[in-house]
Amino acid sequence: MGFRIIANDQDVRICVFMVGLPARGKSFISQKIVRYLSWLSIKVKCFNVGSFRRQLGITQPDAEFFNFANQEYVNIRRQSVINTMESMFQWFEDENGTVAILDGTSITCERRTWLVEECEKHNIQPMFLESWSDNEDLIMENVKEINTKSPDYAHLDVASATRDFMKKIEYYEKVYETFDSEKDGHLTYVKMVNVSDEVIINKIETYLQSRIVFYVMNIRIKPRCIWLSRHGESIYNVEQKIGGDSILSERGLAYARKLKDMIEENAPGETLTVWTSTLKRTQETAQFLSFKKLQWKALDELDAGVCDGMTYEEIEAKYPEDFKARDADKYEYRYRGGESYRDVVIRLEPVIMELERQENILIITHQAVLRCIYAYFMNVPQEESPWMAIPLHTLMKLEPKAYGTKVTALKANIPAVSTYKEKGTSQVGENTKESQLHNILRRDSEVALSR
Ligand code: SIN
Repeated sequence: MGFRIIANDQDVRICVFMVGLPARGKSFISQKIVRYLSWLSIKVKCFNVGSFRRQLGITQPDAEFFNFANQEYVNIRRQSVINTMESMFQWFEDENGTVAILDGTSITCERRTWLVEECEKHNIQPMFLESWSDNEDLIMENVKEINTKSPDYAHLDVASATRDFMKKIEYYEKVYETFDSEKDGHLTYVKMVNVSDEVIINKIETYLQSRIVFYVMNIRIKPRCIWLSRHGESIYNVEQKIGGDSILSERGLAYARKLKDMIEENAPGETLTVWTSTLKRTQETAQFLSFKKLQWKALDELDAGVCDGMTYEEIEAKYPEDFKARDADKYEYRYRGGESYRDVVIRLEPVIMELERQENILIITHQAVLRCIYAYFMNVPQEESPWMAIPLHTLMKLEPKAYGTKVTALKANIPAVSTYKEKGTSQVGENTKESQLHNILRRDSEVALSR
């Protein structure tokens, strides 16, 4: 069912094999693909070969363990790959998975031939994603990240871990066979050179494979910030009505003025591009900002169809069945003549793709749309995302990092009504039970990392 968003073929099963030397960002790319595909409701899971090797008891090996001349170690490492593959095949069967990512090095032709044969036996399409890099800064940045985050190096100081890691890379370099159009022309592969400086694509045959390729082509790794804000309080917010195209209240206008100061204070000297929806309340909120502005129809609020302009109490009275159905499955429920959260995610896909490519962006949009964008960056499951509390008059700073996204919530201290409606009631307000998981956004300047 999840796959229906982007294709009709329910039987498609793909394994993306990461390829490349250590510290080439393979885990980073794997995690990003997982986040993107699960946001699109595609059943995806990453299988990390290093984790399976640790399960065999090799928890903190030194570089020597990766010496390809040592047959005993080669055998153990081969066994970790076999175990990883078995677990992956099991997952395809048990969970009806669609895309698996095998996060390992797979750097020899012999290994890749074996992987292809195994996939064929299980009716899985193999696809290789090589991350090739000679960018020293990028490599050293990755080495630093691995040495501080990986359990393999938890027992070493940074200098010793780096020395050992560089030796490990040397061992891998001795056997590394990069993709080559002459000898690998029969395989489905994508070769990313220094992330997305150059991308070589070969034999991409299915729609889902091409979606993955398109996504990785848009990945950038330059540090940047994404700023998110709902529009200032609107007249409809004050009247507790949903939808519409009303203007800002006095307090909403005060937030628009304050937003300019907050950006100047928190992003001094930075040039941002401001993205708004086509609705008045987002444009009024952006009016005091002197940056370049762009309107996206895709950023318009979730369309409430026949309920547009009504309060939740009116909806409950006039469409009680719909009111209940929405509470029961808020992600899937589609307003009569309007949209569901799932619909919003689909129309946001080009926005997300463009966000991946861009540097510093401030998005001023609406509650439901912001929940969907936030869910993408913070990896929030779809059953939770429609219930997240994202209050008015709060600016969020997202900083995508290698192993998650850091979020900081900055409150403007300008009062606004709450538009948060909890399950099972038509009342809005902050004092109901509240979203347990995402109440980070209710406090000042708090920080969380996506899972
Ligand atoms: C490992 O971390 O054990 C090696 C991963 C690999 O070479 O695929």
